[in-house]
Amino acid sequence: MSDRPRSSPAWTGAAIAVGLFATAVALAARLELPLILAGLGAVCIGGWLGGRHREAPLPRPAATAQRHAIAEALLAHVPDPVILVDRRTLVVEANPAARALLPALHQARPLSFALRSPEVLDGVEAVLSSGMPRRVALSTRVPLERTFEVQIGALPMPDGSGVSAVLFLRDLTSARRLEAMRVDFVANASHELRTPLATLIGFIETLQGPAREDPQARERFLEIMRVQAQRMTRLIDDLLSLSRIELREHVAPTTVVDLGALARQMVDAQGPPAEVRGATIRFEDGDGPYPVPGDADELARVIENLIENAVKYGGGHVSVGLSREEDRRLGSRIVLSVSDDGPGIPPEHIPRLTERFYRVDVASSRARGGTGLGLAIVKHSLNRHRGRLTIDSTVGEGTIVRVSLPEHGAAEVPRLADQA
Ligand SMILES: Nc1ncnc2c1ncn2[C@@H]1O[C@H](COP(=O)(O)OP(=O)(O)O)[C@@H](O)[C@H]1O
Ligand SMILES: [Mg+2]
Repeated sequence: MSDRPRSSPAWTGAAIAVGLFATAVALAARLELPLILAGLGAVCIGGWLGGRHREAPLPRPAATAQRHAIAEALLAHVPDPVILVDRRTLVVEANPAARALLPALHQARPLSFALRSPEVLDGVEAVLSSGMPRRVALSTRVPLERTFEVQIGALPMPDGSGVSAVLFLRDLTSARRLEAMRVDFVANASHELRTPLATLIGFIETLQGPAREDPQARERFLEIMRVQAQRMTRLIDDLLSLSRIELREHVAPTTVVDLGALARQMVDAQGPPAEVRGATIRFEDGDGPYPVPGDADELARVIENLIENAVKYGGGHVSVGLSREEDRRLGSRIVLSVSDDGPGIPPEHIPRLTERFYRVDVASSRARGGTGLGLAIVKHSLNRHRGRLTIDSTVGEGTIVRVSLPEHGAAEVPRLADQA
């Protein structure tokens, strides 16, 4: 597309239109500030260029070329694909994002050569004949499955050659994925609650009917009902913790905690219940203290969850240790490790363990009082603390879970991207 004459006024007009589009889209969908600013910037520059165009009806070729270069640079920085077609739907211009998405897009060739969606092509025709803007959906399957919202607007050409159409493609793939995750989450949570509820209702009916006069059965059933009600309570507690942690995820902790002292407290608290399950917890105190910026309650829950998992799914010997580590990129880090000699975790499951409700073996997790939310809570707490979680496991040998946190007083490092 570099062979097009650089004095074409089309791109300048397109910049104005896209600026308006981008702003409207950003405001309507409450997108992030940078996109809103980009849209406003586009409108300002577009308006300025348009205004200048009116003041100087016959600009010198050099000035026009400069304006075109600015407009082109502006559109090159719009991360979403933008395409301009003329009244015969031949491609006039396309920004780099559009060319990356649709490699068959070429100047002066029909748009339909590159984009085969009938909805989009019909939309362009309708906009060109009516002059009214439209929105249509576009899904691509190759090379990746992606979903776009295509906004099509009419654009009268400044040289009087008729009306063109600007296509602005907004990528909805990640928004759709988030939506699907939310739907999954609600379905999973309801399912997890419904199972113990169904058991409770079943036993209540039995106690009201056939087992009414059977004191032995009553005792047994009441015990099962107590366990199921506790399971629901645990699930609701975990769901509430998760949503509280998510709410605070972008608020950096303001206090400093000694991770070593906290780990010792948790080992002391978890020792007796672990012994009931036949496990022992060893604490390897290193060269403390280990100060980290952190929320004591949240970090205590992180350590508790990891020790609990090692006790529940491990082989009886759990050890908790602390160390310091120098990371070239992240600076000085405090590392807490929880290891066990259990059956380990097959490698294909490891990347998914922090997903909500993901369990290697649902029945065995439930039998041990698991909700499948423990590691999701750990991950979100660590996001807030700029922490990292690594899980190393060898089937038949055991598992080591490591949490690394920035040491208090170490050089500031940029916030890690949320891997949710
Ligand atoms: N130390 C471990 N050894 C073996 N499997 C583990 C270990 N820690 C976690 N897992 C697996 O990861 C799953 C998810 O853990 P978690 O999110 O804490 O949920 P829950 O403990 O409620 O089942 C567990 O169900 C278990 O299958
Ligand atoms: Mg757990």
